[in-house]
Amino acid sequence: MIRLTRRYRFCASHRLHAAGLSDAENRALYGKCNNPHGHGHDYTLEVSVSGQVDAESGRVGDLAALDTLVREQVLEPFDHHDLNKEVPAFAERVPTTENLAIEIRSRLAGRWHRVFPGEGPALDGIRIQETKRNRFELLD
Ligand code: NI
Repeated sequence: MIRLTRRYRFCASHRLHAAGLSDAENRALYGKCNNPHGHGHDYTLEVSVSGQVDAESGRVGDLAALDTLVREQVLEPFDHHDLNKEVPAFAERVPTTENLAIEIRSRLAGRWHRVFPGEGPALDGIRIQETKRNRFELLD
């Protein structure tokens, strides 16, 4: 088995605001991140795949196919977009990077077997670097 990790970048803006809380509670909870005008991040997304090395190609998977999947499902809908207003999943859910990681996994997992049928590699990890000090990694 081998694990391959591919890195992508996108920038997007968001505002952290929980609909069920008052404005004062949101300010207390999220601080500057609750600013009504939002703010942006340069996100680095790492997607890991794992599987057997294919005897003929010598590869664990088709990187071009992975790139197309990530581009269509993540980069095009998220890059240079307002996550709260332009991504339906975040109309109700707060676009924290935790929730962003969960949403990205769901988007990739939902189409994975069409892109990598049969013995193709498994989706084996999502990590998102939000700032120099914050990196989020889905564990299950
Ligand atoms: Ni932020």
